[in-house]
Amino acid sequence: MKIHIIGGGNLGVAIAKGLSKFSQGNQITITRRNTSSILYLEQLGVIVSADNKYQIQDADIIILTIKPYQVDTVLAEILPVISNKVIASAVSGLSIENLQNKIGASNSAIRIMPNIASQFGASATCIAFHEKDKEKAQNVVALFQDLGTAPIIDEKLMDAATVLAASGTAFALRYIRASMQAGIEIGFDWQTALAISAQTVKGAAEMIMEEQIHPEQLIDRVTTPQGCTIAGLNEMEMHGFSSSLIRGIKTSLKQIKG
Ligand SMILES: NC(=O)c1ccc[n+]([C@@H]2O[C@H](COP(=O)([O-])OP(=O)(O)OC[C@H]3O[C@@H](n4cnc5c(N)ncnc54)[C@H](OP(=O)(O)O)[C@@H]3O)[C@@H](O)[C@H]2O)c1
Repeated sequence: MKIHIIGGGNLGVAIAKGLSKFSQGNQITITRRNTSSILYLEQLGVIVSADNKYQIQDADIIILTIKPYQVDTVLAEILPVISNKVIASAVSGLSIENLQNKIGASNSAIRIMPNIASQFGASATCIAFHEKDKEKAQNVVALFQDLGTAPIIDEKLMDAATVLAASGTAFALRYIRASMQAGIEIGFDWQTALAISAQTVKGAAEMIMEEQIHPEQLIDRVTTPQGCTIAGLNEMEMHGFSSSLIRGIKTSLKQIKG
């Protein structure tokens, strides 16, 4: 497929890199106004351009990874030269209905919420679309399945998906940082503490995804009666470990809804 990514910033670049590595056989184009910082992507076989219209007529999927206030400018540029296109938008807060109204009935609006782990084939990309575009959306779903998991969700959960999957990356990183800081306090240099903390989180996540079971079942396997793990867990919970995370996620959602 020919994938045309408009907005070569944090997310657009992560998707381009991920596609070049984990989704073979596609032709990827990425655009931004100032291309100097992303020209290196050409070494990965990605076409880099400052022209949003560059070969856009050939694109099977157009991915928007621009800020909300940049959408109208970009659409004004590309709409006169496209029709019958699938436009997958990662733009936060832009509803399918609003996008569909902007792009006209001849194009299909799909909403996606990837995260920057797309670069490593490890994104959780929630996808929503209207029933009329079900078939056209399948290519988008398949593409993002190559970059991790790609659950199809009801659009009304898109804000929640933004918090859980996109902001969630920062929440998980903050856990790793805290674990690293504790690791330093109990005797490791920061590099070793970081490597252990990150790999431990990766291992825990892989076990859950592989075995598809509730985390508490795996926790049971790690917690010996009267052992050090349950003592540490209970101490953390007494200081609000789970509840502070839950409260943080709910606060993020409140913020997004305005
Ligand atoms: N970052 C994430 O983890 C994440 C996750 C999910 C969703 N999102 C959403 O994805 C969108 C992009 O986020 P981001 O963090 O990647 O932002 P970003 O780093 O600021 O990237 C936006 C890019 O768009 C380019 N751009 C601006 N105007 C343009 C135009 N007229 N034509 C072509 N390119 C243009 C900018 O480059 P130039 O100024 O050089 O043109 C910039 O590189 C946002 O709506 C965000 O909410 C982000």
